Amino acid sequence: MTFAPSLDLGLVNTIAAESKMSFIDGTKGVLEYVGIDIDSLARNSTFEETTYLLWNSRLPNQSELDEFTRQIQAEYDPPNEIWDLIKRIPTDAVPMHALRTLVSALSLFDPEADDPSPEANHRKSIRILAQCPALIAGYDRHRKGKDFVEPDSSLGFAENFVTLLTGDKPTETMQKAMDVCLILHADHGFNASTFAALVTISTLSDMYSAVTTAIGTLKGPLHGGANEAVMHMLKEIGEMDKVEPFIKGKLERKEKIMGFGHRVYKAIDPRATYLKTFTKQLAEDTGNLDLYEMSNKIETIMKAAVGARGIHPNVDFYSATTYYSLGLDIDLFTPLFVMSRISGWAGHCMEYLQHNSLIRPRCDYVGPHEMPYVAMEER
Ligand code: SDX
Repeated sequence: MTFAPSLDLGLVNTIAAESKMSFIDGTKGVLEYVGIDIDSLARNSTFEETTYLLWNSRLPNQSELDEFTRQIQAEYDPPNEIWDLIKRIPTDAVPMHALRTLVSALSLFDPEADDPSPEANHRKSIRILAQCPALIAGYDRHRKGKDFVEPDSSLGFAENFVTLLTGDKPTETMQKAMDVCLILHADHGFNASTFAALVTISTLSDMYSAVTTAIGTLKGPLHGGANEAVMHMLKEIGEMDKVEPFIKGKLERKEKIMGFGHRVYKAIDPRATYLKTFTKQLAEDTGNLDLYEMSNKIETIMKAAVGARGIHPNVDFYSATTYYSLGLDIDLFTPLFVMSRISGWAGHCMEYLQHNSLIRPRCDYVGPHEMPYVAMEER
């Protein structure tokens, strides 16, 4: 390979590796997981089946899906030391800080934490994915002074999470909504948090370290943290009449509108399209139609103002109203993104390790040369 470096700020024009997991056509607004359109998966699949697809490059047959589901269910319950640790976390902690800390702590109680074999990495991926719901729900119940709920290994992934969080089995609508959100957020090429995980795993560090890196990266409001920012924006606007002055004011001040724009999509994010339709009924059923209608008006204003520049709603814009309509606290929105994206992060780490190459770009040094070391008394 010839060495011909060039500066590419933000790696906008850089392809860092090949992958068979997600295909994104930013011009047409297409997302496929292993060639299957995201819309078909959201309508027909489950999060467990979608994760199997991403990790194995094909859909499972029934016995394979049953076995994979059983493996996940068998790992729902974190070690007792983790439940004890949750009780030590300050009740006013930011949930994303709590979640990043708890996922990292899981490694302390996993005897194969540093086993680099593909088989151990697969088992650890299942463990981290399976236990994430208990970490999120456990912290939320701790901060609210509620007792923990025991994980139920007879329940599916989405159903188990809602039960751990609320103490009650979800309605059919809530379970389907949660499963759809988990499917839609599972993977998305080399987004910032996935790439961060790959940088970590490329040094032959471990899966817990890679996922912890990714959680810290997803937290930022330019990335996974946008869904919480969208909800805060909708709350700040408060009512339909204030939508236009609020949005136009921000645009005039060159401030970004959370939930819009994307590094790859220059057409509308197909996940936003699906969520918009899906969320309308949910918002109506839960008395949150005002949020949906305000979102719709924001979309109309943004389309007229910046649509021609390829700035459209992204997955975070309508996931905000979806999660709020499901009764989730706003500061749990990004932890839910983590819960789903562990599927993509772990899948990409296992895929990348098949042809590993240490990720280490160059920087273009623009500082001085031949500078003298000046003694302290002369400075
Ligand atoms: C996710 O990468 C992924 O795949 C991520 C994700 C995934 O599944 O992992 O899809 C999930 O992170 C979705 C994105 C969530 N973030 C937000 O909603 C935050 C708001 N969006 C922007 O910050 C922005 O759109 C980014 C960061 C998402 C992408 O920005 P880029 O590609 O770095 O482009 P840019 O910031 O340089 O913007 C280009 C122009 C600028 O105008 P000019 O300076 O050229 O005049 O477009 C404008 C920007 O000001 N612009 C916006 C805007 N986003 C871009 N203007 C107003 N509102 C916005 N939201």
